[in-house]
Amino acid sequence: MPDYSNPKLLVERGSLSEGQVTWRSPSNIALIKYWGKYGRQLPQNPSISLTLDQAYTETTIAYRPKTGTGQDIELAFFFADKPNDAFAAKVKAYLERQVDVFPFLRQLTLTIRSHNSFPHSAGIASSASSMSALALCLCDLERQFFGNLEDDSAFRQKASYLARLGSGSACRSVYPVTAVWGETVEIDGTSNEYAVPVGDQLHEDFRTFHDDILIVSNREKSVSSRAGHQLMDGNPYANPRYQQARQQLHRLWNAMKEGDLATFGQITEQEAMTLHALMMASHPPFILMEPNTLEIIRRVQAWRTDTGQPLYFTLDAGPNIHLLYPHAIADEVQDFTADSLQPFCENDQIIRDQVGQGPSKR
Ligand code: PMV
Repeated sequence: MPDYSNPKLLVERGSLSEGQVTWRSPSNIALIKYWGKYGRQLPQNPSISLTLDQAYTETTIAYRPKTGTGQDIELAFFFADKPNDAFAAKVKAYLERQVDVFPFLRQLTLTIRSHNSFPHSAGIASSASSMSALALCLCDLERQFFGNLEDDSAFRQKASYLARLGSGSACRSVYPVTAVWGETVEIDGTSNEYAVPVGDQLHEDFRTFHDDILIVSNREKSVSSRAGHQLMDGNPYANPRYQQARQQLHRLWNAMKEGDLATFGQITEQEAMTLHALMMASHPPFILMEPNTLEIIRRVQAWRTDTGQPLYFTLDAGPNIHLLYPHAIADEVQDFTADSLQPFCENDQIIRDQVGQGPSKR
């Protein structure tokens, strides 16, 4: 278990001038879902995701030495160029929790600017991209001030750990292509504390996979994922679910290494349905799918049966559909989605994305 607290990370008075760091970090879509946690944001089962490309957050931390002697984190936060008090309060609380890891945060006055590539109202969970971008910026500050974390894998591991403390799924966004979070005997070096990259073991078909995000509704969710995770504690299906996730990971991971699209699709869809079934079996139960979610699922399944093409879907904790398919059938799928699925999307909104190369420093 890594212990990143380090009281030595304080900058010498007078040695610090002002500066800034910027990171762009993508969202990710889980195939085996993380749903249920314990302790300090630790997962009840391992999860695996594809890292996206076009759906990202870009965050800049600008800093200058603090003039006063106050111990508070001094922070101004701008989202999409506008001051945002709600986000500022959340980020400040997060940074307060990390002062054991980065004590230098108390010595700075920070201005954080963040924006998403996708419309804020698209109903896409932005916590994975935003928390990973923030964590990468923080690790970069440590690297700048102290010359630590020069080794890229140490840098990413720490960023993944810190992203996890902001939002569990964010820890997987730190890596290109595919990441696994949570201990599993399947893959060496896995941990509940941070994600690990596994993209280099993947069959090439998956490295260029597409994910078209069909925006069924951009309304705020009626139940947050934080509340949803908590409800797993009283869910009678929780333990069988955690066991099932391990078995599914085993089968899915083999399929992803071998390029077995049919098994990939079958497990991925079952995971999406299981996630929503768990919500419906919670106490109190809740439904995040919308009528158009089901309509689109039915149409995808029918198109697959008719054409025999490997088009699959998954869902995250909301009504929107992620359509997953190999690059070889992109033209056909995009014609089908434009004709038959787009009318079921709010404001005709589709975000066409694909597997990406992970975060980048700007
Ligand atoms: O990271 P959180 O707490 O927003 O939870 C994410 C939960 C799912 O998106 C439903 C699944 C996952 O593994 O990303």
